[in-house]
Amino acid sequence: MKNKVSKDENQKSKLTNQQGHPVTDNQNTRTVGKRGPTVLENYDFLEKISHFDREKIPERIVHARGAGAHGYFESYGEVNGEPISKYTRAKVFEKGKRTPVFARFSTVNHGKHSPETLRDPRGFAIKFYTEDGNWDLVGNNLKIFFIRDPIKFPDFVHAFQPDPVTNIQDPERIFDFISQSPEATHMITFLFSPWGIPANYRQMQGSGVHAYRWVNKEGKAVLVKYHWEPVQGIKNLTQQEADKIQGMNFNHSTQDLYEAIEEGNYPEWELYVQIMEEGEHPELDFDPLDPTKLWYRDQFPWHKVGKMVLNENPKNFHAEVEQAAFGTGVLVDGLDFSDDKLLQGRTYSYSDTQRYRVGPNYLQLPINSPLKGIRTNQNGGQMDYRTDYGEDKNPHINYEPSLLGGYTEDQNNGQEHEPYVEGNIVRETIDRQNNFGQAGETYRRLNDWERDDLINNLVGALSQCHKDIQNQMIENFTKADEEYGKRVAEGLNSMPKDDKMEEAVHDAEQMGHPSDPY
Ligand code: HEM
Repeated sequence: MKNKVSKDENQKSKLTNQQGHPVTDNQNTRTVGKRGPTVLENYDFLEKISHFDREKIPERIVHARGAGAHGYFESYGEVNGEPISKYTRAKVFEKGKRTPVFARFSTVNHGKHSPETLRDPRGFAIKFYTEDGNWDLVGNNLKIFFIRDPIKFPDFVHAFQPDPVTNIQDPERIFDFISQSPEATHMITFLFSPWGIPANYRQMQGSGVHAYRWVNKEGKAVLVKYHWEPVQGIKNLTQQEADKIQGMNFNHSTQDLYEAIEEGNYPEWELYVQIMEEGEHPELDFDPLDPTKLWYRDQFPWHKVGKMVLNENPKNFHAEVEQAAFGTGVLVDGLDFSDDKLLQGRTYSYSDTQRYRVGPNYLQLPINSPLKGIRTNQNGGQMDYRTDYGEDKNPHINYEPSLLGGYTEDQNNGQEHEPYVEGNIVRETIDRQNNFGQAGETYRRLNDWERDDLINNLVGALSQCHKDIQNQMIENFTKADEEYGKRVAEGLNSMPKDDKMEEAVHDAEQMGHPSDPY
């Protein structure tokens, strides 16, 4: 590629195989005579082709297409003028502390080399290599999600991913599912507005989406939501602009991120948190643990707590970006889960898929391994390359407790948070579902041009759906906001039978600044 390779004559430039043997001929296989057949003892060739046959690992089941970069996070150490230690004892948030990070941004529903202009949420996953081990904040660009129960996730993904027969994404399958999942009305409103196509990775927001917990030294917890705000500003695309870019370059976001960092134009995001007291908050018309809901900024202000700078490109895409493994269970002392069911479902899914996708020892890879030393009795498994499980350890003792040596338990930096729970084990959804209230509010908070774009995009997609699905969606939008439902219905009624998608294209001339629906 762009890097010039100096062809010095010394041994360093000579090709070897993976056993370190010199490769004397990389152009011709060994054959019986010039015309073949080939011989089986051709170790070099067999090794080369066999390794090649295995070069790809399974794609991520979602978020297969992505780009990544290294950088750092620097904590401001304060929340709204108060020391952050009042809320969390996590060392990563100590004042002025710099922690190395690896970020991976992604689209969700298509394959590893699909266009980056798609109407799709964007993944925003950050791995913090803290002194207490790794912390992963695995979020999206949008601040809410489609569903609130993890048992629905495989169906939701099936509906959005290509049809199992045609291998084509189909709006009818998407809206068939969405029309029967009213909690998704809010997210669909964002997704079909220009917020559904961020212009690139540098100019998009990020969000942890779920409520998490912060825990202080006394074991007292608060609920928090995390948001990343790009210092570069926010930019979204209309469908028409996205189509134009896609026609010219379907790698534009990866290229934009890579080139910006190569040029020293390092992207930055500031991290904000919203804080809510622990509890069910009956005064709210929604459940604070519901990931389909925003915590509005006027009620729950955003507090700046640090910034992230991405200043180094990966040296190798496969080793770092492809094999990176993030998970919502990867937390450090002072940071905790909430009881959000979706969050808890995710926490199982990530490391489970990574044992399959990358292998049972995926945590030994440099991109996933914490910077601090590992001292563990978890050993063995495919590709376990460790011979040394830590310093000062009796190598015979791979169990605990022991009187003969080996590792002993460590302690937290403070009192454990011990939430009290009781109840029957049930299969029930939450009270206060309020599936449409915030969807309507978001519709009203969009700018005029964004609302026009939303209606055009919805009408274009819904026009390809069965009448029953259209009617159910109109009913859902009407429950969100009467005008919203009316405009979608009118749009569908006035659509000519053919060329409906073309009608859905918005005039890019009207593009202005994004709204602030949060
Ligand atoms: C990737 C599951 C909801 C953000 C993934 C992967 C799985 C998964 C299996 C592939 C991981 C890998 O191969 O390394 C789930 C389940 C969910 C859920 C079961 C709900 C029950 C969400 C939500 C968000 C999200 C709500 C955003 C807040 C991401 C991101 C990635 C990802 C950013 C890509 C991480 C990377 O860059 O490697 N998810 N997910 N997911 N998910 Fe989810």
